[in-house]
Amino acid sequence: MAEEGALSVAGFDIRIAWQRNDAGIEADAIEMWTRLDILPPEVRPEDRAKQLAAAAYSEGQIAAVATGVVEYIDFLRARFLVMRSMTAPEFRRTHAQVALALPTMTMLEQWSKANPNERIAGLIGFVEPGAWGEAARMPWGPYFGWTLVAYTHDGKQVRVVWFDHYRIES
Ligand SMILES: CC(C)(COP(=O)(O)OP(=O)(O)OC[C@H]1O[C@@H](n2cnc3c(N)ncnc32)[C@H](O)[C@@H]1OP(=O)(O)O)[C@@H](O)C(=O)NCCC(=O)NCCS
Repeated sequence: MAEEGALSVAGFDIRIAWQRNDAGIEADAIEMWTRLDILPPEVRPEDRAKQLAAAAYSEGQIAAVATGVVEYIDFLRARFLVMRSMTAPEFRRTHAQVALALPTMTMLEQWSKANPNERIAGLIGFVEPGAWGEAARMPWGPYFGWTLVAYTHDGKQVRVVWFDHYRIES
């Protein structure tokens, strides 16, 4: 029987983790980040694990994760969920992030709508040069609809998805 919060997309089992304190998913993500030594040195894996939005599994093995953390984005004058994504090398280019993004983005928008006090305007991502290949050359990205809105001083693309229900402060 499928575990609570699990669904299957493109051959991956997607497990929603957002604000669930799911010790199993957190432990799997920490093990993957540690094994791959992929987190910046200043980031504690236990802290990043508390930001997990969802994880993709293949035959019981963790393959990809997405995390989110609320931050006020000055130049857009609104609070956004800063999203980060990572796929284990052996699962890259197999649509793990596509599988993860579709239910995760919907879930986060629904959560935001259900929690209007959070005043979340949408999702924001800081795209590492070269990370998404040709997709990062499209101003309105494929699959996820992330729109290029700015660049950081160190050359990352800033891409956002606005939530339909959000209204700009006037
Ligand atoms: C970037 C990253 C998260 C992509 O994950 P992934 O699971 O391989 O992505 P997907 O297979 O779902 O790819 C979705 C689309 O993104 C684009 N894409 C992703 N990785 C790409 C690459 N290395 N080269 C070219 N295009 C790429 C493609 O358009 C792809 O669709 P397609 O295969 O139908 O053409 C993964 O490479 C990773 O974890 N990298 C290290 C950490 C990192 O850079 N994180 C993101 C920082 S912005």
